[in-house]
Amino acid sequence: MTSSRTAIIAGNWKMHYGPKDASDFAMELVPKLGPIMRQTPRLLCILCPPAISLSAVREIIDSMPSPRLELGAQNMYFEEKGAFTGETSPPMLHELCSTVILGHSERRIYFGETDELVNKKTLAALKYGLRPIVCIGENEIQHQAGQTEQVICVQVQGSLANLPAQHVKDVVIAYEPIWAIGTGKAATAEGAGNVAKLIRQLYCSMYGDEAGNAVRILYGGSVTSNNCYGFISHTEIDGALVGGASIKLDFAEIVRKTGEMIQQ
Ligand code: PGA
Repeated sequence: MTSSRTAIIAGNWKMHYGPKDASDFAMELVPKLGPIMRQTPRLLCILCPPAISLSAVREIIDSMPSPRLELGAQNMYFEEKGAFTGETSPPMLHELCSTVILGHSERRIYFGETDELVNKKTLAALKYGLRPIVCIGENEIQHQAGQTEQVICVQVQGSLANLPAQHVKDVVIAYEPIWAIGTGKAATAEGAGNVAKLIRQLYCSMYGDEAGNAVRILYGGSVTSNNCYGFISHTEIDGALVGGASIKLDFAEIVRKTGEMIQQ
């Protein structure tokens, strides 16, 4: 973290909790987040439940408002409306959410999303006033082969191409090495920080230093309340995208530790 950027802790619930369970969990979680959020102005917290549970969680957040506690989706299509069975459009999400996660590795691996598609979605999110959290990261084989830098360059240049100048600072990038997701084998803070630095340099070369210094870069991959401190205290890392630990009350502990760090 550096004091010039607002930290973000986002929870990706993945395909967990339908409307009823999401509501019950949010009823427990949101009251724990409220006091932390009120004390920490430079922190943003985003809950990203499955699409079908967005309304349920929206209701809980609205019934117990906390500053900078927002709602995000996990995916969307780039068209505004039309014959796209099963998809959700940016303006539909915008009725409920501030944010959308795009290009998560699970979308890329299981649903064939390419940098080109992620780019279209990113442009659409910005057009309709949603904050995109664009995920990138190398897989285990690429990691072992020392290809991380190369993979990250291709993903940044592809997924984040042609962004409109007025929105370049609104994008959030999540560095999520695939080998660290859901495995319990988190990257080291130093390793993740080095890649975050590379991402920032690439972003600076694409959109200028001002945008590069403003863009938020999160780390994701087996983040828990035990290891979050190391990531968040690294100057190049502006927060975390949390999967498994976000569907437990441990998430509040991650947010609390982040808040504590920021206030130091
Ligand atoms: P994890 O997932 O925290 O369970 O590793 C992170 C993510 O997929 O965003």
